Amino acid sequence: MLAGEKGPAAAKLLELLLALGEVFEAERLVPVESAHISGVSYKNLGAAGLEWLEEQADLGARARIRATLNPAGMDMDLWREMGVPEEFAEGQRRVIEAFERMGVEPTCTCTPYLMGHVPELGSQVAWAESSAVCFSNSVLGARTNRESGPTTLASAVTGLAALYGYRLDENRRPGVVVDVEAELETTMDYSALGYVIGKKLGKTVPYFRGLGKPSLESMKALGAACATSGGIALWHGEEVTPEARQMKAFLDGLERLPVGDADLAEEVARLTRPLRAPIIVLGCPHSSLAELAEIATLVEGKDMGGKLWVFTSRGVYEEAGEAGYVGVIENAGGRVFRDTCMVVAPVKEMGWDEVATNSFKAGHYMASMGLDTRIATIRELLNGGT
Ligand code: F3S
Repeated sequence: MLAGEKGPAAAKLLELLLALGEVFEAERLVPVESAHISGVSYKNLGAAGLEWLEEQADLGARARIRATLNPAGMDMDLWREMGVPEEFAEGQRRVIEAFERMGVEPTCTCTPYLMGHVPELGSQVAWAESSAVCFSNSVLGARTNRESGPTTLASAVTGLAALYGYRLDENRRPGVVVDVEAELETTMDYSALGYVIGKKLGKTVPYFRGLGKPSLESMKALGAACATSGGIALWHGEEVTPEARQMKAFLDGLERLPVGDADLAEEVARLTRPLRAPIIVLGCPHSSLAELAEIATLVEGKDMGGKLWVFTSRGVYEEAGEAGYVGVIENAGGRVFRDTCMVVAPVKEMGWDEVATNSFKAGHYMASMGLDTRIATIRELLNGGT
């Protein structure tokens, strides 16, 4: 492949993986079963990023393994309704076209595992998008590092990744035991817990005790938040995640970190400002069917006046459409968009200045973009009051 037998793009992309492997002193390359590629929004890529992708496609880069895509900067059909500028839309359309030419599925979601891309326990994969990485490593037990857009494309095209980091048993061991003393009920509580822990631990792998029985939605929220405030790519939850049992052998002598209700409340307060008429943004990470069902139940018969935006994947949108949830939300003056989210869409150009959400990841990034934010549970947000 390096000699160009699989084409010039594969040779170049393999060089990239080899260079990365050298930096991290990897012994060898390993085959990976799937890739999830980030760096899709034209907001982040810009003209230079688009040019690089088109060049790879022109040079014959083609995915050899299953490869899915992270969110784009707009709903690929409903971008005008989102208020996305024409020029941005043209750039975004070309980005997706380039990926499609390379054989990548245009899933445009950060929850590929809700659209049937579910790698097996112990398998090696190359995933980017920090929340998806955390879900893959922790909840599914499939192994990946926090990859980037170019390295995931390189893995998709070569079917390989350098063997280092979370791909190795020894780096999957916990470094701190977190004793959860806080009461965890809502998805927002788990998001807050993740945010607190990411801040305190940086990249250290936490072993949680007292997580209760988190739903899939709570686990995706927890991972998204701890990957945002810190660099956590893997967490274990006692009696929750698949590798936790074997990690018990490594807990002796580890630091213990208690986390209580006050720790969570402090972070909620930090990202909460008094707002006038915020847009309520839900679906970070992209909403599951159960979340869309909950939102539909809460807004049925209400008038949200266009101030509720929900983000999800195309797969879940279709199921939610069939179940009637999308119709209920739209009849109540809410909007449901696919392919994108509040963080990767050009929201400043769309005229947004204040948002309310149940997601610490969304709140964190939107605050850093200069928007005023409020964090609350879905129920609090949809039952009124800013
Ligand atoms: Fe997904 Fe966007 Fe949040 S990519 S995790 S919805 S910031």
